[in-house]
Amino acid sequence: MAEHGSQSAEETPWWRGAVIYQVYPRSFADDDGDGTGDLAGVRARLPYLAELGVDALWFNPWYPSPMADGGYDVADYRGVAPEFGTLAGAEKLITDALELGIRTIVDIVPNHVSSEHAWFRAALASPTAPERELFWFRPGRGPGGELPPNNWVSEFHGSAWTRTTDPDGTPGDWYLNLFDSRQPDLNWAHPQVRQEHEEVLRFWFDRGASGVRIDSAALLEKDPALPDLVPDATAEPEGTDGPAQPEGTAGAAGPEGAAEPTRPHPYIDRDGLHTIYRSWRAIADSYPDPRVLIGEIWLPDTERFARYLRPDELHTAFNFDFLSCPWEPIRLRASIEATLAAHAPVAAPATWVLANHDVTRTVTRYGRADTSFGFATKARGVPTDLALGTRRARAAALLTLALPGAVYIYQGEELGLPEVEDIPPDAIQDPMALRSGGTSPGRDGCRVPLPWSGSEPPYGFSPVGATAPPWLPQPTDWADRTAYAQIGEADSMLELYRTAIRVRRAEPSLGDGDLTWLPGAPDQVLAFSRGNTFACVVNLGPDPVDLPNHDSILLASSPLPPAHHLPTDTAVWLRL
Ligand code: NOJ
Repeated sequence: MAEHGSQSAEETPWWRGAVIYQVYPRSFADDDGDGTGDLAGVRARLPYLAELGVDALWFNPWYPSPMADGGYDVADYRGVAPEFGTLAGAEKLITDALELGIRTIVDIVPNHVSSEHAWFRAALASPTAPERELFWFRPGRGPGGELPPNNWVSEFHGSAWTRTTDPDGTPGDWYLNLFDSRQPDLNWAHPQVRQEHEEVLRFWFDRGASGVRIDSAALLEKDPALPDLVPDATAEPEGTDGPAQPEGTAGAAGPEGAAEPTRPHPYIDRDGLHTIYRSWRAIADSYPDPRVLIGEIWLPDTERFARYLRPDELHTAFNFDFLSCPWEPIRLRASIEATLAAHAPVAAPATWVLANHDVTRTVTRYGRADTSFGFATKARGVPTDLALGTRRARAAALLTLALPGAVYIYQGEELGLPEVEDIPPDAIQDPMALRSGGTSPGRDGCRVPLPWSGSEPPYGFSPVGATAPPWLPQPTDWADRTAYAQIGEADSMLELYRTAIRVRRAEPSLGDGDLTWLPGAPDQVLAFSRGNTFACVVNLGPDPVDLPNHDSILLASSPLPPAHHLPTDTAVWLRL
C-alpha cells in the first residue's frame, strides 16, 4: 500500500481496513416464525452478506437474557438465548460465515450482568452472601437508609441505585446499576470478576470468534469510595455509556459542547482500565490468528480515547465523534482530522460509523434541520425530509467507505431504512424510553425488523405461516425498501453499498492508510486522495461544484449532470 511504504496488502491485519456489518439478531431474520430474529435466520442469509461484500459480522449480544435491555442484560455468557438458537447453532454460524470469508465478532458485556445472572441471584438471596462482593451493594443514606448511597444517575434516567428487599421482607441495601435496575454493575476490583471475563473471552475465541466488541468499555472501574458527582465538573458527551451528570443536570452537554470532566472521574475512563485491557490483549494475541478487541468508548478527550488503542491494548474503538457530527463540511473535516491525528501516535486505524442500534437512523437524521446526533436532543415529531436524508446518507456512505481505516454498517443502513417513529406506546421495549417517563423516544425506532421481500409486513422477516408478528411492528410503507425490491435496481441504496464495497475491495489504496486533502477545494467540499490514483469528493454545499482533474468516474452517490459538475449532497469516487 502506498501509505505503508513497502507493506503489502497481505501483511496488513484484516481489521485495520475491514468493512464490518452489525447484526442485531433480534431484528435480522426470523427462521422459526416466532417473530424474533434468530441465528438460523442469519445463517440462511449469509449469501446476502457475502454478496454485500463485508469482511466481518458484529453480533449484538445473543446470550440467554430476560431482554430487559435487548440482551445487554446477560444471564449466561457462555450460552445462546433459546429464542436465538443454540450454542451449536452459533458455532455453525461462525464456521459457515468463515467459509464465505466472513469473520465473527461477538459482543462482550463486562460492566454489568442481568439481575437473573447466577451471581446476582445468589447475592440477593442473603444480605451476607459472598457474591455481594462481586457487585456494588451499599447501605442507603438518610436515617432509615431510604436515600441512594450517592447521586449517580442511570444512563436510562433516574437514580443509578436500586434498593433491595431482604429475604425477611425488610428494605435492605442498595446496588449500583449505571443502566437499568435489571443490569447490576460488577465490581471489577474483585479478582473473580476479572478471571470470569478472561475465561469468557477464551470461550468465544476457542469457538472461532475473530474478536469481541466490548460494551461500555470505559465504565468498568469505579472509585471504591463511590463519591457524589460534582455538578458542572462532570459534563461528558452523553451516550449510552457517556453521561455523567448528577440528578437534575443530565443532558446539559451535547457531544460538541462537552466540558472536560474533573479527573479522576468516579466511573468513567479510570486509569485502572488499561491494566484490564492489557491482560485481554495478551489473551487475544495468544491465538495463532490473533483475535481483535473493539471498544465501545464514548470520550470527548481524543488523547484519553487513544490511550485505549496503544499497541498492547485494544485494536480499535468506535468513532462516536464522527457518528455524532452534523452533515456540515467544516465540522466533518474537523472530525476526520481530529480522528486521524488522535490515532496516529498510537498507530491504530480509525473507524467510521454512521449508525448503530442506539442512535437515530442515518437517512432520518440527515433529513432534519439538526443533522447531529445526541441522546439529549432526541425527540419525537421532528420534521424530516427523507428524500434529502437519503441523498445525504448515500453521499455519506461513499465518504466513510473512502476514509482510512475500518467501516461499520448497521443492518438496514444498506437498505436506507428510516427511523420508525410511530411505534405504538404499548409496543415500546427499550428501557431508555420506558424509564424516561415518556420524554425519550428511546432506541426501538432503529431496531425494527428488517424487510426482506414482499409488499406488506412481515416483508419476509418471518416465514410464511409464522405464529407471531415481528417483535416490533414494521411500517406499512416499506415495500420499496426490502432487499428483494432493491437487488438489481441500479439507483437503490443496496446496489450503491454493494458496488462501493466491491470497488473498495479492489482498490489497494482504500481501507487502512492515510489520506491527503486535495488543495484548492472550496469550504463546502471534502476532497481527498488515497494513494496516487484515487480521490473522493463530497459536495455539502448548496451549489454544484467543478470536479478536480480526473481520468474517470468510478462511482457517484447520485446521478451526475452531463457537464460532470458535482451536485449538492453528492459524493463521487474518481480515478485520478
Ligand atoms: C451500550 C449498548 O450499545 C447499549 O445498547 C446498551 O444499552 C448499553 N451499552 C448497556 O449495556
